[in-house]
Amino acid sequence: MCGIVGYIGKQKASAIILEGLKRLEYRGYDSAGVATQQGDHFDLAKKIGRVEGLIKTTPALKLPGTTGIGHTRWATHGGVTDANAHPHISSDQKFAIIHNGVVENYASIKKFLLTKGYTFKSETDTEVLCNLIAYHYQKEPATKEGSRFLESVRKTLRHIEGTYGIAVMCADNPAEIVAARKGSPLILGVGDGELMLASDVSAIISRTQNVVYLKDGEIVHMTAQNFSITTLDSSDVSPVIDKITWNIEDSEVGAFDHFMEKEIFEQPAALENTMRGRFSEDGSTAQFGGLNITAIDFRQVDRFHFIACGSAWHACLVAEQLIERFARVPVEVDYASEFRYRNIPLSKNALFFTISQSGETIDTLAAMREAKRKGYKVLAISNVVGSSIAREADGGVYQHVGPEIGVASTKAFTSQLLVGAMLALYIGRMRDMSFSGGIEYVKALKGAPDLVRETLKLAPQLKEIAKRYAHYKDMLFLGRLTLFPVALEGALKLKEISYIHAEGYPAAEMKHGPIALISEECPSVFFVPSGEMFNKVVSSMQEIKARKGKIIAIATQNCELPSGLVDELIRIPECHEAVLPIVASIPVQLLSYYMAVELKRDVDKPRNLAKSVTVE
Ligand code: AGP
Ligand code: GLU
Repeated sequence: MCGIVGYIGKQKASAIILEGLKRLEYRGYDSAGVATQQGDHFDLAKKIGRVEGLIKTTPALKLPGTTGIGHTRWATHGGVTDANAHPHISSDQKFAIIHNGVVENYASIKKFLLTKGYTFKSETDTEVLCNLIAYHYQKEPATKEGSRFLESVRKTLRHIEGTYGIAVMCADNPAEIVAARKGSPLILGVGDGELMLASDVSAIISRTQNVVYLKDGEIVHMTAQNFSITTLDSSDVSPVIDKITWNIEDSEVGAFDHFMEKEIFEQPAALENTMRGRFSEDGSTAQFGGLNITAIDFRQVDRFHFIACGSAWHACLVAEQLIERFARVPVEVDYASEFRYRNIPLSKNALFFTISQSGETIDTLAAMREAKRKGYKVLAISNVVGSSIAREADGGVYQHVGPEIGVASTKAFTSQLLVGAMLALYIGRMRDMSFSGGIEYVKALKGAPDLVRETLKLAPQLKEIAKRYAHYKDMLFLGRLTLFPVALEGALKLKEISYIHAEGYPAAEMKHGPIALISEECPSVFFVPSGEMFNKVVSSMQEIKARKGKIIAIATQNCELPSGLVDELIRIPECHEAVLPIVASIPVQLLSYYMAVELKRDVDKPRNLAKSVTVE
């Protein structure tokens, strides 16, 4: 979950690394640290808290040297302390390391290393990895001098169970870094006379657009002049250099107060980008360039399985309803973390989809591998080009919404809803959806960005409502059909950034338990669409009102609500069923955002969380 940066070149490494760490901080922010190397000496600065704190209170920025590594931590082993912050130095002072991931067999290795005289300053699994490299290095024959550093890292990694993205410096080999990955992302940036390493491209784009996406089991040996990639079993790998398509501005907050705010307001453009070039010429269906599966094979699918975590899982729940409604094919949705251990019976012609903004969520990746192991094709919907999930999938759909930096997902979520809606159209048109039905559906999807634009104009109203409701401790989010997953998403958004306890429920399910929470102290947010569910939802609201619960209603334009029933009324446009979940998401994003701001929370970096969850 952490952020990793490495640099070898002619510039002062510490400044470049700290700049990169600031951009990667959203990946983990318990502590930060940097180590640089000059000759056989390491300089180190590390501290709990943010990168800004590290810069202000330690000599981090002044560390000398043109080679270095840096890290922002999301603690897994050992508390949030200065000693546990990365980088770690081996007890013989030979190696410095940063690590993203978990060494599962660290305890037995530590026991062994203690018997060999190695000592430990931290409680982390990472320091064990570092000392194990030192142990193998000291055993490695001197004749292998040229590659002794690389070989001792390779040997060590063969003994490691768990996940890692690591970067290592060796006191005997100045201006060299050895880095490797398994289950944690790592990207090599190839600049002009310099090389960089990072866990994602946002730390690299200010210096180069040329990158190599390292694969699991690969080790890169970087020197001031060059780099080479090999595998754990010593085979050579020919690197493929890709071009990053994002700009530096995409990963900057610009005129906004927070990335989350920026990303909420970027949604009309994000949706346009997700749709661009993805409708057939006759305007009656969707088309996807990268599914890598023929229409005939697609037509054979008798059940779709969608797997994801968090907000992406909510997007799956909406996709499920749209595919079942418009394409009449059964869909199963699973939490990725549960799927891999459930061993559910699968039909012969099942097809899997995973949804993951980052493309690095380890639970989703593991579930995907499990489905592939069982012999099924897995397609991925992801925002990050070259991410592990995108690469390992048999095909898929890129979201193209640009980097999402705020920990709370907004533009990526609505874009996932859109891809789900487009898939429902695509599959529907292969089956029973008529040409005219398709034309109407496509028109509705194309209109979504404008409806979102209009809905964003509610921001001032939501800001005022947020001021009135920010002091509550609990809140319910209630919706039906496709707006039930949006209720779940609303509750998740509020929880993660404001720390207010919130639950999402199907509106009618509320009376089977959650209604016990209702009092003047627990407001409810209701999604109220016009149409067949309107009267049912109004009845649920009456039940809440009868128990003195305050009601914030997010109602479509044509709903005529009984007077005095709701305390706050937010009007959203009427829209096609496939677009409604997208439009209805906007007010809850804004409400959560403004409530969190009102409570002075750290909106983009909420406590305990990290943007991409790369540990199980
Ligand atoms: C969303 O606001 C969350 N921070 C989180 O639930 C997220 O959606 C989840 O971790 C999945 O991430 P992914 O899309 O990158 O796989
Ligand atoms: N397991 C390591 C630790 O707890 C690395 C965690 C991370 O990925 O930030 O320090």
